[in-house]
Amino acid sequence: MTHPDNTDVAAVLKAAQDNLWLHFTRHGAYAGGEVPTIVRGEGAYIYDIHGKRYLDGLAGLFVVQAGHGRSELAEAAAKQAQELAFFPLWSYAHPKAAELAQRLAALTPGDLNRVFFTTGGGEAVETAWKLAKQYYKAVGKPGKHKVISRQIAYHGTPQGALSITGIPAFKLPFEPLVPGSVRVPNTNYYRADEISGVPGMTPEQYGRWAADRVARAIEMEGPDSVAAVFVEPVQNAGGCFPPPPGYFQRLREICDTYDVLLVSDEVICAFGRLGTMFGGQKFDYVPDIITCAKGLTSGYSPIGAMIAKEELFEPFKRDGVMFPHGYTFGGHPVSAAVALANLDIFEGEDLLGHVTRNEPVFRATLERLLDLPIVGDVRGSGYFWGIELVKDKTTKATFDEGESERLLRGFLSHALFEAGLYCRADDRGDPVIQLAPPLICGPKEFDEIESILRSVLTEAWNRL
Ligand SMILES: Cc1ncc(COP(=O)(O)O)c(C=O)c1O
Repeated sequence: MTHPDNTDVAAVLKAAQDNLWLHFTRHGAYAGGEVPTIVRGEGAYIYDIHGKRYLDGLAGLFVVQAGHGRSELAEAAAKQAQELAFFPLWSYAHPKAAELAQRLAALTPGDLNRVFFTTGGGEAVETAWKLAKQYYKAVGKPGKHKVISRQIAYHGTPQGALSITGIPAFKLPFEPLVPGSVRVPNTNYYRADEISGVPGMTPEQYGRWAADRVARAIEMEGPDSVAAVFVEPVQNAGGCFPPPPGYFQRLREICDTYDVLLVSDEVICAFGRLGTMFGGQKFDYVPDIITCAKGLTSGYSPIGAMIAKEELFEPFKRDGVMFPHGYTFGGHPVSAAVALANLDIFEGEDLLGHVTRNEPVFRATLERLLDLPIVGDVRGSGYFWGIELVKDKTTKATFDEGESERLLRGFLSHALFEAGLYCRADDRGDPVIQLAPPLICGPKEFDEIESILRSVLTEAWNRL
């Protein structure tokens, strides 16, 4: 059987089944069936190998900000590949990396002016931790090496980034990991009573309480041993936890008090996901380091970056000193050119303004689902939303392991996809459905998302 564009469907499906090793995938689930295979995208939609259309409710993987099928990004890549396909940033520069670094420095809050390019987010996190360690050695505080991060937070898969990650199940197969990372509570206000043990806190009180757990962890570890705190502006894993009011301001104070670097891991949240370029502009804080990737090119070519404040670069200006760290493909010329073209789209189409204007509409559309008995909470920011599913709305009782398995893996993920919505049903924390569509979406797509979720969640409840 051949597809209209001459894809040999059976051959592709067989190759996917026989030779491809999918990421974070239970391959057993596809045994005897077929691996869902996406062949093209256009705007907010993707098409599978059989020609069926789906709304891309996750922008690929929080990546495709400007939407699929943008010829200007493809052209930027082709032009750069012809001019200079590759050169490393190891002791040499190339114009597109330099221009992109300058442009990012202008867009970040504060004086985060030094851009170290990677190929993705995990490498950016890894780079930030290594920088923090070497920086403190260089300024005469060699004991400062530990990091603090939040429960259930995902920060990537390299062994350092995985050590920072707060999801035990992802870490266990690879223990022992890099030592020196410590967990604190996250900002899940929906479950604030359970997490804090203090009933009825206001969001402000909970924000203060959660930020103060960082201070306590620093005290317990010993301030002379702690180098950095890694937090996302809105925590992804667990289902989009926004910071309660005052959280980041208190965290900034704590980091300043103890001379600990505040690392804002914006691999998902940067580049318009929240309606701003970076989380600091949304929640009014200036971190010491930003890690980012994904949306920087809208996924048309891979790149990531660690962006550090100028002070952290000072020791590396000295004669004979270097940061012995790098990636062959970090800051790849094609990716840098695509990133610049992508940032042009952000400006030309006012994507930030579009997300900011539509955020209340997206929220209100998803909140309509709160009339369903299975929907416990709708939370998020910008175009980044989580819907927490519960067994009992009054008690907030969640699903046990078996129910979660049957509901999320056995039914929901598949049923949503079948119904034409690609999104994520996730149980790294409590069961949630996550939505993060391309930033070009508007009320029409929000309604489509709501309508598919309504029918599939209603069916899920009936099956329970
Ligand atoms: C907050 C955060 N940090 C790091 C990463 C790892 O990025 P990558 O998969 O590009 O290595 C992710 C990936 O989703 C992420 O969400």
